[in-house]
Amino acid sequence: MNYPDLKKARLRTDNDVNVKEVKYDFDAIFKGKKYFLKTYGCQMNMHDSEEIRKYLEVLGFTETNQLELSDLVVLNTCAIRENAHDKVFGYLGRCKHLKREKKDLILALGGCMAQEEGVVSEIKEKHPYVDIVFGTHNISSLPQMILEHKEKEQNIEVYSIEGDVYENIKYSRDSKISAWVNIMYGCDKFCTYCIVPYTRGKQRSRALDCIVEEIEGLKKEGYLEVTLLGQNVNAYGKDLKEGYDFKDLLERVAKTGISRIRFVTSHPWDFTDEMIDVIAKYENIMPYIHLPLQSGSDRILKLMGRRYNKEAYLTLFNKIKKKIPNVSITTDIIVGFPNETEEDFMETLDVVHTCKFDSAFTFIYSPREGTPASHILDNVSLNVKEERLQRLNEVVNRYSLENNKRLENKIVKVLVLDENIKDKNKVYGYTETMKLININGGKESIGKIIDVKIVEAKSFSLDGEVI
Ligand code: SAH
Ligand code: SF4
Ligand code: F3S
Repeated sequence: MNYPDLKKARLRTDNDVNVKEVKYDFDAIFKGKKYFLKTYGCQMNMHDSEEIRKYLEVLGFTETNQLELSDLVVLNTCAIRENAHDKVFGYLGRCKHLKREKKDLILALGGCMAQEEGVVSEIKEKHPYVDIVFGTHNISSLPQMILEHKEKEQNIEVYSIEGDVYENIKYSRDSKISAWVNIMYGCDKFCTYCIVPYTRGKQRSRALDCIVEEIEGLKKEGYLEVTLLGQNVNAYGKDLKEGYDFKDLLERVAKTGISRIRFVTSHPWDFTDEMIDVIAKYENIMPYIHLPLQSGSDRILKLMGRRYNKEAYLTLFNKIKKKIPNVSITTDIIVGFPNETEEDFMETLDVVHTCKFDSAFTFIYSPREGTPASHILDNVSLNVKEERLQRLNEVVNRYSLENNKRLENKIVKVLVLDENIKDKNKVYGYTETMKLININGGKESIGKIIDVKIVEAKSFSLDGEVI
């Protein structure tokens, strides 16, 4: 195995729950106890929750989806926008109430909010009933903190410096069919509005050999799909000086022969022609790219520190469309960044009209404490922000529907993931282009890639029939 920097790579061994002494009889302490795990935020957090779940299971806990039945509550939080933050504090209120009835309930808060400036002191002062606070750099401290929680009033361990690069982590994964695989931690881009480089630290790429080994293992276990995760996957390897980059990683992963490879998120600035060529070359690399635009105005893009302008984005977009047949491209857009004028917003709409994205996540700008943009006067009124968001969503949804309608009566390959929760006579899955599709049919197709005829297209999903 080739580790680029052994000092940085911390290896975990089988069933390593990272406790100081292995003298504990976990079964005697936690057997029969239940945990409730709630995850906010992006795929990165959902994948971290799969690590948390593994630790809790090794300790002897079993999962419950009912807060009221739990003995341990873990909130894995997100800090990307103010409303994410508010939701967590709202939920803490519910937990506080429950703790009044259930004195032994252990309440733990982890994730990006724990890393946010001021949150730890806010919890210390206003939420003394929270037992454990752990950060994104020390998820593996959680088992030890749970074991010790009674010894301390509040057990808080949040590292402000970025952690190691972890290899060989064990997960209790959500799915047996499709798996997330971290290829890097943190982010170096420091877009001026974004809190992620502060909550997740600087970029640290995992060793290429270790990633490939993990994926080979997943394939052996029967997984059909992997999604490579990173805040900026195209910058993979840049911090390692090992001479490999994202295209090399993609190529090695494609050669493992796993059926489907996806990756999020792509940053336009680091997207090279060679990467596009590799995506186009391998059939098992899915023709789907999430390519955040954020704004179509050069002036705002500069204020956001995004490192590309409208023309560069469009050039990249067109290259991808030309080289990768039937590719679908989705995006993220922020409206109401400080100083955004109607003209700036029209530039954003113009890019949407040109690109006709398959779909887009759209957000109202939310100032985050500690980020450079939070020092710029937030001078666009909430009314204007809301009105722009609504106008943008109308256009975005129109193109989503148009793109989807074009698929009607076509036959597509679908990886079927599970039963439809609302309708047991249906199953759902995703097309190669990452479109959600509900299919008439039984459970026998779950975990398979099947041909499906699209019978009806909507803005946010498709309906299909097995053929
Ligand atoms: N690493 C990814 C995105 C991470 S956050 C990238 O660079 O594209 C997901 C999305 O949240 C971002 O693309 C952005 O559109 C949005 N976002 C991030 N910070 C925000 C803020 N302060 N206010 C509103 N939206 C924000
Ligand atoms: Fe945030 Fe920018 Fe990094 Fe994405 S690339 S996580 S938006 S700083
Ligand atoms: Fe939120 Fe942290 Fe992801 S802030 S979006 S959970 S990296």
